[in-house]
Amino acid sequence: MAAHGTPTPMTARKTGPLRGVADVPGDKSISHRALILGALSIGETAITGLLEGQDVLDTANAMAAFGADVSREDDGIWRVNGVGVGGFAEPDNVIDCGNAGTGVRLIMGAMATSGITATFTGDASLRSRPMGRITDPLALFGAQAFGRAGGRLPLTLVGAENPVPVRYRTPMASAQVKSAVLLAGLNTIGQTVVIEEKATRDHTERMLAGFGATITTELCNEGRVITLTGQPELRGRNIVVPRDPSSAAFPVCAALIVEGSDILVPNIGLNPTRAGLFTTLQEMGADLVFENPREEGGEPVADLHARFSPNLCGVDVPPERAASMIDEYPILAVVAANAQGVTRMQGIAELRVKESDRIDAMARGLAALGVTVAEDATSLTVHGCGASSVPGGATVATHLDHRIAMSFLCLGLASRSPVSVDDGGPVATSFPVFYTLMSNLGAQIARDNS
Ligand code: S3P
Repeated sequence: MAAHGTPTPMTARKTGPLRGVADVPGDKSISHRALILGALSIGETAITGLLEGQDVLDTANAMAAFGADVSREDDGIWRVNGVGVGGFAEPDNVIDCGNAGTGVRLIMGAMATSGITATFTGDASLRSRPMGRITDPLALFGAQAFGRAGGRLPLTLVGAENPVPVRYRTPMASAQVKSAVLLAGLNTIGQTVVIEEKATRDHTERMLAGFGATITTELCNEGRVITLTGQPELRGRNIVVPRDPSSAAFPVCAALIVEGSDILVPNIGLNPTRAGLFTTLQEMGADLVFENPREEGGEPVADLHARFSPNLCGVDVPPERAASMIDEYPILAVVAANAQGVTRMQGIAELRVKESDRIDAMARGLAALGVTVAEDATSLTVHGCGASSVPGGATVATHLDHRIAMSFLCLGLASRSPVSVDDGGPVATSFPVFYTLMSNLGAQIARDNS
């Protein structure tokens, strides 16, 4: 099922219990970073468990276009032979990052301090997303961006010949912005400093340290102060990618709302900068048990047991938790619709500039399915219908957004009448085995007219 092209309408209907083991794919954020840092290293990086979703495949193609040798072995291990920090070659064609905000933003950072020029584009969703948040700090290094109005793609970035180090306070909680600045700092003599008021996912910092860079994080009054020493020699290494908690969220939340469900999701990443959804679900009364906590490849992981939870209740999700569950609000809204009482999600303005305006997409979709919702510029409020009581019976617009599609399809499994989405194709960007995995658990999700 292609992420681009003809829409693929899909329908989910009330389903018996979800049962079994859900082997979700590798973490998307870590997969992008493994390819990019592998490409900026000397020697070979072998990546096990890379997410083979379209977003990450687009980053793999981009790294090849910048001169790295990227290949996939028959056993599924990806090998990247890098060009070293500052070694990117000028691509001879436009870099198409598809639907991937993380891909394009991190790659722009990684090339911005090499004396080369590259032009970036993407699908209709990515071309509508703001890039000024990346090109503004990259301009401080000396890079020049020529994009459409509002800094939108297609955009040409002329890398700085003689980059100067930067001290940058991120204006919004964004791991993509932080990471783009740090990656630009790699080929810059001196120390690049990023200050973030609220902690965002720290995979870039962890992985840079793992590849041999000198990078420190201090907690100060102003927040987290991250200091990277430029022009390290990064050395290729072996990386095992943990499974993506943001993908695990879909079968886990489906199990919580579908009567009788009991599933196990092994090996999921539980980096505290990503785990806010699980805290929230436990506050709502979800039956979640984390087993065998351990560390793999510098990231905390565990096996997660999720069972049907008939007495979920609404909660207030505090704004300071937003960064640690920024991609999980759509599926949380689905759980909230199956809870008793009101769930208020505050401080989530960043959701308006994701693959779609996710506050609006969720509010409209839930309202069409009979759920009472309210939104304002920075929040979403869902009035729960109680367990298995969402009316359903409508088609929801997904706006090329994989997480909107998966969220509403999970909702359909527990709604009174079926729930359809206008296009289930974009699911392939992040969770290519979603339909098979859900079907193996017992979910009834099917392509319309099949
Ligand atoms: C990501 C950061 C988040 C998140 C995205 C992945 C990353 O975006 O929404 O899916 O891998 O750095 P922001 O940094 O824009 O919040």
